[in-house]
Amino acid sequence: MNDALTRAAFLQKTSLASAALLLSSLELFAAAEEKIIKVAIIGCGSVSNRYIVHLQSSPLVKIVSLCDIKIERAEAQNKKYNIGANTYNHIDALLKGNAFDLMLTLTDMQMHGALNKIALGAGKNVWSEKPLANTYAEGKALVDYAKLKGVRIWGAPAVVTSPQFEFMSKTIQQGKLGKLASAHGQYGHTGPTWSSFFYEPLGGSMPDLGVYNMATLTGLLGPAKSVMAMTSIVNKEREIDEKGIVQVKEEDNAHILLEHDNGVISHIMCGFNYFDPFGHEAKNQTLHSIQIFGDKGNMRLIGYDWEPKSVILDNSWTEPPQIHQTDDGGYQWQEGATRIAGALSKNIEPRINVLHSLHVLEIIEAARKSSKEGLKVKLVSSFPFPMV
Ligand SMILES: NC(=O)c1ccc[n+]([C@@H]2O[C@H](COP(=O)([O-])OP(=O)(O)OC[C@H]3O[C@@H](n4cnc5c(N)ncnc54)[C@H](O)[C@@H]3O)[C@@H](O)[C@H]2O)c1
Repeated sequence: MNDALTRAAFLQKTSLASAALLLSSLELFAAAEEKIIKVAIIGCGSVSNRYIVHLQSSPLVKIVSLCDIKIERAEAQNKKYNIGANTYNHIDALLKGNAFDLMLTLTDMQMHGALNKIALGAGKNVWSEKPLANTYAEGKALVDYAKLKGVRIWGAPAVVTSPQFEFMSKTIQQGKLGKLASAHGQYGHTGPTWSSFFYEPLGGSMPDLGVYNMATLTGLLGPAKSVMAMTSIVNKEREIDEKGIVQVKEEDNAHILLEHDNGVISHIMCGFNYFDPFGHEAKNQTLHSIQIFGDKGNMRLIGYDWEPKSVILDNSWTEPPQIHQTDDGGYQWQEGATRIAGALSKNIEPRINVLHSLHVLEIIEAARKSSKEGLKVKLVSSFPFPMV
């Protein structure tokens, strides 16, 4: 449902005679349509700094609760950002506390599935940082459970909302690259130092970093039918702030091959051992992190897909490559939850689709299986395509 249709339907149904009355009714209707969404955040660590500021920029959002098992983190964020929320140290207390509409799950990756299930069970909508669960089966069960409970769940990343993604998708759909054949995506840095969960079982560079390219490439090329991968652990130990040396138990280096429809093959490489001064703060990144090749043209995304700068389109034998979409339109990678709150508020369907997140989750699990067993792994999941 979009705003224009809703208003048209309203106008058709209304039988108010006077223009003045109609106007004030419309204003009331708009106000009713744009409900303020009450948000609760669980997990008040590193990424919450980015989320809170973005959420506070929206008139449609009110952060009412903050929760962290380290309660002092919830209290510190409440104070630092002058939120005025209630703070809790456990999800049960959070659910019994201030009423809210949308929970943001920003905890360790391994906790997402369990916390998301509890929130859905309590009738809350959920925006989850990636991954939304630890396995495809767990993620699928969450989506089914949300339906049963009459609520919604969505998962990061938000790469499909960038104007650069939109430009690339439209360019492909308009046939400007001819018959598509191959694509490549890459993302890496030297790994987080602030928490050990990134290196523990079910952490790893795929759900933390590769997930962005997986969302972008499937979003542009369509669902994958099968996966082959090689993953490894390059650094067996890591030094974590306030914790010291930990053993690395999940892959920190991965190459993933995806088979799409019509013979299209894409490749993703990600890892926690990539020297890159712009790996985490990507403002000045000039790398072509996504490349798409067809027989009539190719496209290169400048910067990372989560913080894109522009797109170079090369589809002429005589003209030089053209730079497109240098305007980010205000897109920020941390905008997913704000967008979902806006969609809930206005009762519109966002572009971010949980079936797409589930598909990416299945790819991650399949890549692990493929690498472990030396197999090509078939996928069962899909999502509505094209996205734009
Ligand atoms: N840090 C980033 O820049 C960044 C960027 C994009 C996405 N992410 C994703 O965000 C998520 C969180 O990452 P982070 O870097 O903020 O980690 P972090 O370790 O800084 O923060 C996680 C917080 O969750 C809390 N927590 C853990 N279990 C909990 C539970 N059961 N209940 C309540 N609180 C709990 C921890 O105490 C901690 O404060 C991860 O999924 C990560 O992949 C992080």
